[in-house]
Amino acid sequence: MKVGIGILGAGIVGGTLAAKLIEEADAIEAKSGLVLDVVKVGVRNLGKERPFDLPSDRITDNPEEVVDHPDVQLVVELMGGLEPAGSLVKRSLEAGKPVVTANKELVAAHGLELNGLAHDQGVAFLYEAAVGGGIPIIRPLSQSLAGEKLTRVLGIVNGTTNFILTKMSEEGAAYEDVLAEAQALGYAEADPTADVGGGDAAAKAAILASLAFGAWIPGDDVPRTGIDGIAVEDLLRADDLGYAVKLLAIAEEYEEGIAVRVKPTLVPHDHPLASVRGAQNAIFVEGPAIGELLFSGPGAGGDPTATAVLGDVIDAARELLAGAQVTPPVRFQPSKTLADGQIATRRYYRLLVKDAPGVLAAIAEVFGQHGVSIASVWQEGTGDDATLLLITHRALESEQDAAVDALEGLDVVNDVAAVLRVLIAD
Ligand SMILES: NC(=O)c1ccc[n+]([C@@H]2O[C@H](COP(=O)([O-])OP(=O)(O)OC[C@H]3O[C@@H](n4cnc5c(N)ncnc54)[C@H](OP(=O)(O)O)[C@@H]3O)[C@@H](O)[C@H]2O)c1
Repeated sequence: MKVGIGILGAGIVGGTLAAKLIEEADAIEAKSGLVLDVVKVGVRNLGKERPFDLPSDRITDNPEEVVDHPDVQLVVELMGGLEPAGSLVKRSLEAGKPVVTANKELVAAHGLELNGLAHDQGVAFLYEAAVGGGIPIIRPLSQSLAGEKLTRVLGIVNGTTNFILTKMSEEGAAYEDVLAEAQALGYAEADPTADVGGGDAAAKAAILASLAFGAWIPGDDVPRTGIDGIAVEDLLRADDLGYAVKLLAIAEEYEEGIAVRVKPTLVPHDHPLASVRGAQNAIFVEGPAIGELLFSGPGAGGDPTATAVLGDVIDAARELLAGAQVTPPVRFQPSKTLADGQIATRRYYRLLVKDAPGVLAAIAEVFGQHGVSIASVWQEGTGDDATLLLITHRALESEQDAAVDALEGLDVVNDVAAVLRVLIAD
């Protein structure tokens, strides 16, 4: 059974997908019973070399031609960005054409609207590759685990930052040096802001949280702290204390609401996420019935990502041919999200202090005034530039922030040099 496919974008992922659809057509047909015919591919630059062979009249620089082509029954959006990708996806769904995308930015910003439109039109809107690249995680969260009351999802969902943090902690190298190396190797973009600033991970965190808890969380609502500005000494000290530092997407459901965050976090060495190295991604899912599940693998790259997209294309094509929504989208309920500061967490602090009698007592008093109790303290050095490392028990973040403001006003504290979240693993 034949389905006409239109592909918007033929770069790293779109180019690999088109090549797979063409070169592996027999294998795809043997396994799925489907003939997936690449009818039209939209690109920006018609002169660029592509990794697939198609007659030139099947490639266009007018993306609307892809969506509107009468033989295109299913649209795959792999252009990236909010526009024109968003309008083209909407146009496709409005025309009753199912859409597959890998665009986390678009899904995190407009997923609710696009999901609703797909639902109304009775067609698929699938985005397995938008989080975790080649790792199946969207389908497990929205389908396999639909009957579980998930409590927490933790993810290492940005390979660039995990590569940087791994190198820094294993080689003791400075952030700027490792970033430059990551750029030279192609792991980081020339403008790395979306990765190192936590924006990419925040979009993915929003998608994971929305599916896990069945409540739509817009990407812009996710508080994020990136790894730009992280000091190698904190990674090395954390390692000595028994922790790896990871940029975590953290989605938790509390009685008061849902808390979704992206934060550099100390993860105990014996937690499965601590050993996820380099550009790998991993998502750790917790629930009362399933206990703990770990999904890990390549979070990006043409082949892994195009494979995830192809899985969605096959599902959407089957659904189209069946003439029914086999996998209706998750129904999202309204929910309250908890802003930064509104949850209780454990934290690691590195304070630069004067080593004088009563310093520790003064610091402990400030924390105590804000209801923060200290679990462990380590001191290094003496004189005017001693270092104190503190790990607190669980305490309200807004109170911990207020304690930091007060600490900065103490004569004996030269600097609050680092504040990082500590994962509560139990
Ligand atoms: N790369 C990965 O490993 C990965 C992993 C997971 C998800 N994703 C997501 O997959 C999507 C595609 O990523 P990518 O890495 O494949 O991007 P890419 O290599 O930059 O490719 C983008 C493609 O879209 C085309 N394009 C862009 N703007 C266009 C416009 N206005 N009109 C027509 N064509 C346009 C480009 O045309 P030209 O080729 O002519 O420039 C190019 O073929 C993004 O949403 C990304 O977040 C990527």
